[in-house]
Order: sequence, then structure tokens, then C-alpha cells
Amino acid sequence: MPVILNIDNVTKRYRKAGGLFSSGGQLFTAVDGVSLALEKNTTLGIVGESGSGKTTLAKLILGIEKPDSGRVTLDGRELSSLSGAELRLARRGAQMVFQDPYSSLNPRMKIIDIVLEPLRAAGEKIADGEKTAAALLERVGLKPDALLRYPHEFSGGQRQRVAIARALATGPGMILADEPISSLDISIQAQIMNLLNRLKKELGISYIFISHDLAAVRYLCDFVAVMYRGCVVEYAPAAELFRDTRHPYTRLLLSAVPDPDPARKTVLEERRDGSGGPGPQACVFSDRCPRAAEACLKKRPDYTEAAPGHFVRCVRAEAGAN
Ligand SMILES: Nc1ncnc2c1ncn2[C@@H]1O[C@H](COP(=O)(O)OP(=O)(O)OP(=O)(O)O)[C@@H](O)[C@H]1O
Ligand SMILES: [Mg+2]
Repeated sequence: MPVILNIDNVTKRYRKAGGLFSSGGQLFTAVDGVSLALEKNTTLGIVGESGSGKTTLAKLILGIEKPDSGRVTLDGRELSSLSGAELRLARRGAQMVFQDPYSSLNPRMKIIDIVLEPLRAAGEKIADGEKTAAALLERVGLKPDALLRYPHEFSGGQRQRVAIARALATGPGMILADEPISSLDISIQAQIMNLLNRLKKELGISYIFISHDLAAVRYLCDFVAVMYRGCVVEYAPAAELFRDTRHPYTRLLLSAVPDPDPARKTVLEERRDGSGGPGPQACVFSDRCPRAAEACLKKRPDYTEAAPGHFVRCVRAEAGAN
């Protein structure tokens, strides 16, 4: 299958905020040696608890952040080697849809200007703005009478449709959607998921779908990558990952039932700050793994192909155990 995006051994480190009088905190690794490929016209889900590096990975893919090492290649062009006009051109090929359609749409801009903004930012001359914007709105199921209105006149689901129309403006090959449905009502979530799927069929779009919602991931995604402390610990076709879960962390995620006490957070929601944890010699999950053994502290496991196309980073998988 042709690949639209290739992420090759990408690492990103941040400096932890230091105390008031310190000149700078320790470095910690937000994305740690991630390699992934996105096949054309497929959806790759990225799951993992809060702080595991999902959004940082998205920023690296869009060229908003530069990796400390490794390479991101979008449609055959390596982003870190580009600058200025070339980078702007490459960026047209990948657009983002954010979690919160209330804060991601400028309240002072009319819908027509919001939707056309990426084209203007790319320096494109638009012959007939109204026609272009109306066609984009039609794609996402909105009527042209929305064009001259402002975001506050729309519901959350409609705003997310506007955000998707804006993402489509440059004709991207891929869209990164970072928690695109989690701020919406349940009934609206299904509509937005159906819209994403329809656009995939109609326009041949590829998606990266970042989500805490495993049911949504199961419904939408062809492949799933599970992140823990900046590492991808398991990657497989979606149906396979849910049927034959291999990594102890993924098992923990799939078994985590939301707690009825809202003050207590599920495994997925509890935010970790990415620092601390096992050293580089140990498996990243060894301090929390219910099955950790001596060997897990001595060696960071590499990927094992446990079944065709199903990759796991676990010492037990390396040893051939399940
Ligand atoms: N600009 C930054 N400077 C310093 N630390 C950062 C920066 N951006 C992210 N981090 C840290 O990197 C780690 C990964 O953050 P990231 O936002 O990628 O996680 P996430 O998986 O998207 O979490 P969530 O599910 O809550 O959105 C966190 O520890 C976060 O605090
Ligand atoms: Mg995030």
C-alpha cells in the first residue's frame, strides 16, 4: 500500500519547567524513538493516557515542532529539511482538527473567512471566495447560509463541521484529528465520526485519529498505535489489536472501566508529566507492569512482530511468550 506519512525514529525532548530560582529543569523525552507509517486512505488511531506524547507527535508531524532526532516524511518530502515557502507548501498536505470547536474557531471571524483562512495563509489567490467556501461547507453537510454568520451562532457539532471544512480547504491528503469528538454530545459524536468516514471514502483522505475513546477508535480506525511515555508499545490492525491484545499496558487500557466517582480518574485520563519513570535500560512500562520481571529492568525491548503486522515492545513477546 502507498504510504502518505512516514515517521522514522522520531524523538522530542522538552526541558521540564525549573523552580523559581533555577535556570532550567531536567530534560525529559515527550516522544521517544517513534516509528510509524500511515498508508493512504486509512485511519491510524493513536491512544495512550494523558501526557503520553500524542499531541507532541501530532505537532512533529505537522512541522509545528522540530524533532531532536529522526525524520518525518510527508508525501515524499522530509519536513525538517524544508523551510519558508517549501514548508508552507508541504503543510498544505496535512491539516489539523482540534478537540474544542469553541476555542479553535476565531469568534470574531465569519464562517466564510474561517474556512478560507488556510488558503489565504498559503498565499493562494481565490477567484470566487463565496463559491469555494460554500462548496467546502456542502462537503461537511452545512448550508451556504452559514457563510456570513459567526461561530457563536452554531452548536458544537456544527462548529466541528466548520473546523473540518477549514481543514479540507487546501485539499490535504491527510488530516490529524486530536480528540475531535470528545467535547461533543454522544449523539453528535456519531454524526462527526460518520462525516469523517464519508470524507475518507469520497476524497481518499488518510487520518490520524487521536482519542481517549476506545470505542470510537475501534469504530473508525484501520490501525492503532498505543503510546506510553512517548513510546509506541503496540501497533496492529485495529481489529487484531482489540481481539488479540499483546502488551500489558494495552490490556490495562482496554480493561480500564470509567470510575463512577468523577474525582477519580481512569488510567487514560490521569495525566503524567513524562518525567521520572524507568531509566533508558529498562522497559518504559516496567514500573507499572503487573507482569514485570527481572529481565524487564535490564533491557528496553525492541519491536517484536508477534503476528503478521502486529508489533509489540515487550520483553515477554521477545522471548516468544504471550
Ligand atoms: N512545549 C512544551 N514544553 C514542555 N513540556 C511539554 C510541552 N509540550 C508538551 N510537553 C510535555 O510533554 C509530555 C507529552 O505531552 P502531550 O501533550 O504530547 O501529551 P498527550 O498524550 O497529548 O496528553 P493529553 O491526552 O492530555 O492530550 C507531557 O509531559 C507534557 O507536559
Ligand atoms: Mg494531547
